[in-house]
Amino acid sequence: KPLADQAGVSGTVDARAGASSGRSPQMTRDNGAPIGSNRNSLAAGDMGPVLLEDVTLIEKLARFDRERIPERVVHARGTGALGVFRSTADLSDVTKASLFAQPGKETPVFVRFSTVIHPAGSPETARDPHGFAVKFYSDQGNWDLVGNNLPIFFIRDAIQFPDMIHSLKPSPVTNKQDPNRFFEFFSGTPEATNMLVHVYSNLGTPASYRTMDGNGVHAFKLVNKDGKVVFAKFRWISRQGVKSLNGDAVAKAPANFLTDDLYGSIAAGDYPTWDLMVQTMSPEELGALPYNPFDDTKEWLGVPFRKIGEMTLNEVPENFFRWTEQSAFAPANLVPGIEPSPDRMLQGRLFSYSDTQRYRVGANVMDLPVNKPRVPVVNNYQDGALDHARGKVDVNYFPSVTEGKSVDPAFAPTPYKIDAIARTAPISKTEPFDQAGQFYRALKPADKADLVKNLAGDLGVVTSMRTKVIMVSYFTQADKDLGTRLAKAIKVPMNEVDRAVAEYRSTVDARYAGQQ
Ligand code: HEM
Repeated sequence: KPLADQAGVSGTVDARAGASSGRSPQMTRDNGAPIGSNRNSLAAGDMGPVLLEDVTLIEKLARFDRERIPERVVHARGTGALGVFRSTADLSDVTKASLFAQPGKETPVFVRFSTVIHPAGSPETARDPHGFAVKFYSDQGNWDLVGNNLPIFFIRDAIQFPDMIHSLKPSPVTNKQDPNRFFEFFSGTPEATNMLVHVYSNLGTPASYRTMDGNGVHAFKLVNKDGKVVFAKFRWISRQGVKSLNGDAVAKAPANFLTDDLYGSIAAGDYPTWDLMVQTMSPEELGALPYNPFDDTKEWLGVPFRKIGEMTLNEVPENFFRWTEQSAFAPANLVPGIEPSPDRMLQGRLFSYSDTQRYRVGANVMDLPVNKPRVPVVNNYQDGALDHARGKVDVNYFPSVTEGKSVDPAFAPTPYKIDAIARTAPISKTEPFDQAGQFYRALKPADKADLVKNLAGDLGVVTSMRTKVIMVSYFTQADKDLGTRLAKAIKVPMNEVDRAVAEYRSTVDARYAGQQ
């Protein structure tokens, strides 16, 4: 049975009157009253004005006037699909999460792919990280793995996110995206170098949503039934392979390219599939890494992946707005056995998504079919705009002997010890360039050339020589060949770059201290 029907929102037409008589359904106003004219307003004679008492007209325009809700503040351009996740391993040694309890267990999913910066309706092939958000309707509540196609991120502390997005979004003055603005931001953000080489490689312009991998990016804490903790990173591997577009192909692609491809393949019965992989590390192993294990600008390179499941997308939602636009993915939607790690980005995201969704969609966002858990929701929340799902409730408080609700301490967050000085200070073991260099050196020659060309395209239009030099100095510290080729492409003198590298190395500690 299609998921849409299971959630009680099937697309069957309400035939009302008319069905029995064999006529098309009678049109009504929202109050259910039949209407007599849907083409002509109530006007005072042939040449006279339209009357305010035409409640059919007024309601129709008023409903139309309210068709838009605010678009997502980021990731506004996206596409959703329904499907199923099938666990392929018994993961109970590391997590009590019920969706991973035994091989073969199936959990319905809703997935939304997206770009990040550009508005709803923008070309889907714009260079960007691409969102890969999965909502698992598990039998212990919804788990949202809200990731991207790239394995790392630009920044490592949520407090920087609004500044970074402001720099990448159109200028508040000209309403145009401007590389002068975002490269000025990145020239003060060396840790972004790893993400920049990823996003300016052809991975920033996927050939299809079906040919992207997905990454949870952050470490998560997994807890088993005995309370034992390991940390984990999740990755979706595309069975379709990873395929990207180069600049020439992007220029030729139509604006709706990625949605047409995804929906076309689902309609043709060619369902895309991904393998879900996990990397796990014990708290002791994490300490041995040469970088901070909770720094989302780093991958856990060299840590083996273990396959834990498969996901297939097999249904296009019956209504784009109702499912895809109103979907609310939130890193705070966790289930027992999966808990936050101390990653400073993840910690900020735990707040930000549910907060924006209560504003973007409304306080009762979780009652909409796309967001509603497929298990009973039992709490004392109430009211708010468009409350309709709560039924007859008198005992809306806790505790009560009249009508008890219970909680089970087994579901409480796993206790952990903190012994630290609370302070605003950067993380230790920052290592901003090492993995960016490894990524570049692993590229094929043609992909290296595309990366240099793509970077030169945006960095080349920056007017500030200071910004250009500093940016090239970061890419040089990642890999000398990359820096040299980029400097040549955008005509930045290499002696200036060398000076910036030397200055960076001599002042890096002071620079970080100054950023508090
Ligand atoms: C969407 C905030 C970092 C992936 C969003 C939205 C907000 C947001 C406010 C809009 C949500 C909505 O309206 O429903 C933040 C903040 C971040 C951050 C504050 C850093 C502290 C990240 C990272 C990733 C990511 C690191 C990838 C791992 C996504 C995705 C969506 C999204 C995929 C779209 C979800 C959908 O399809 O509806 N983010 N974000 N974000 N973010 Fe982030």
